[in-house]
Amino acid sequence: MLPLVLSSLLLSPAVAAAAQRQRSVISRGDGFLRASINPISGVPALRRRQISEDVENQKTGTRYAIDIGIGTPEQTITLILDTGSPDLWVNPTCETANVPKECGQYPQFDYTKSTSLKTTGFADILSYGKGNASIEYITDTITIGSTKVKDQILGVNFESYDIPLGILGLSPPMDPSDPENYPFLLDTMAAEGIIKSRAFSLDLRSVTEPEGAIIFGGLDTGKFSGSLARLPMLDPSQSPQGFDRYWIVLTGVGLTLPDGTSDKSGTIEVPVFPDSGGTLTRLPTPIFQAFGESFPGAQFDAASGFYIVDCAVGDEAGSVDFYFGSKRIAVPFNDFIWHLADGQSCVLGLLSDDDEPVLGDSFLRAAYVVHDQDNRALHMAQAANCGTNIVSIGSGKNAVPSVTGDCTAAPAPTAVGGGLDATATRQPTNVFTGSSPDATAIGGGPGPAGGRTTASAVGLGPSATPSAKSAAGRTIAVSDIYGTSSTGLKVAVVLVAAVVDKEVLSARFHKR
Ligand SMILES: *[C@@H]1O[C@H](CO)[C@@H](O)[C@H](O)[C@H]1NC(C)=O
Repeated sequence: MLPLVLSSLLLSPAVAAAAQRQRSVISRGDGFLRASINPISGVPALRRRQISEDVENQKTGTRYAIDIGIGTPEQTITLILDTGSPDLWVNPTCETANVPKECGQYPQFDYTKSTSLKTTGFADILSYGKGNASIEYITDTITIGSTKVKDQILGVNFESYDIPLGILGLSPPMDPSDPENYPFLLDTMAAEGIIKSRAFSLDLRSVTEPEGAIIFGGLDTGKFSGSLARLPMLDPSQSPQGFDRYWIVLTGVGLTLPDGTSDKSGTIEVPVFPDSGGTLTRLPTPIFQAFGESFPGAQFDAASGFYIVDCAVGDEAGSVDFYFGSKRIAVPFNDFIWHLADGQSCVLGLLSDDDEPVLGDSFLRAAYVVHDQDNRALHMAQAANCGTNIVSIGSGKNAVPSVTGDCTAAPAPTAVGGGLDATATRQPTNVFTGSSPDATAIGGGPGPAGGRTTASAVGLGPSATPSAKSAAGRTIAVSDIYGTSSTGLKVAVVLVAAVVDKEVLSARFHKR
């Protein structure tokens, strides 16, 4: 996809009409900024509507999205909110997206129209659990509500695969010592004094209450019950693959049945990280099986890798339980099971993963999570909804206040047995014999960041040339990255943009 073609597409009336979307609810207080997050597709509740568009969307999996303004004048752009990657970029290539039609419904950022944009000549290829994006970096103003974040470095994509929306990443960089790290959105917000420390809280909400929120620099005691448990982030060296993410330790799992009886595993120590860009939860095989083999009526389907369940179970009380020390997060059955596009079958929102266990949206809908990058800790509580009371997060060691949620906690299970075996792999006892659901129907979000490769800029402006130097100072030919045919990438688009002060930008790139 060429930038030139892209910008002409932006002018089409169909795209402009799609831009007439509901604006986010945004409020601002002393040192905090709240913005709405909306599940944009695949919400199981949509299954009851018989509109073909909804069914189509449902195949793609739930993604949580946020609307922000980019450029001057501000253009409203919808982005996937992703706590599993650090970068902010826009303009996915819809032709090669996993869901091209859905991708095409969202407005793209017309960088030729922003008077505050500066080009850089730097480019990278960002890889995700699913898909990748080749981006060229610019700097521009980001607007959240009426708050302006100035000179934020962000990427404009010129060739992406399997990703239907741009991404707003909020994780720490995978390698903290990488000289190519630059100030990400949270860093800039703190540096510009919009928030007092690099912290935000995330409230994705359950499947029946679509509107969640992100609060930069604050938390909302009206959105959880019980205490906020402080869970230190693991050092990257303690993580399975050595990357810095929001790694914490899962110390037990359990299952509470509709009749109120509850079972729990013995103590385990499994590093996991919450990832709002991951639709499903992925856990080591013994835990995956512990849940699957005990979940009411669940049957293992080897072909798709899922446990298939009766959708009606979602209407029953009962929860899949996660323990972090003494903190229990109970995920209601309804939030944990996934409704497939055929409108009839359901699976557990869980896959086995022995390499990089992830707590995806099927977990996060039940958790209220405060992410404190400055102090390298998460604070987690059981999500609930009983009003709004936003409290600022300050700075320093105890920046996140130790507060208790305003909501009434659901009663804890009375008797908890210790019969759930989360350490041994086993032969599945309940095996599905019907015809397999289409596993590819669960598109899901991008998953966690997989890495960053330096690329050549395509030339978004007069200061960049097709063979521009990378951020690392290397010069890589386009053909080195894309194979033999590179003609399409060498088109330099001339646009009206301020000529960047390379020295200033370079300093920004290397300073964190
Ligand atoms: C990006 O993804 C596409 C499609 O999966 C793949 O063909 C391509 O090699 C990937 N590019 C990079 C640089 O990883």
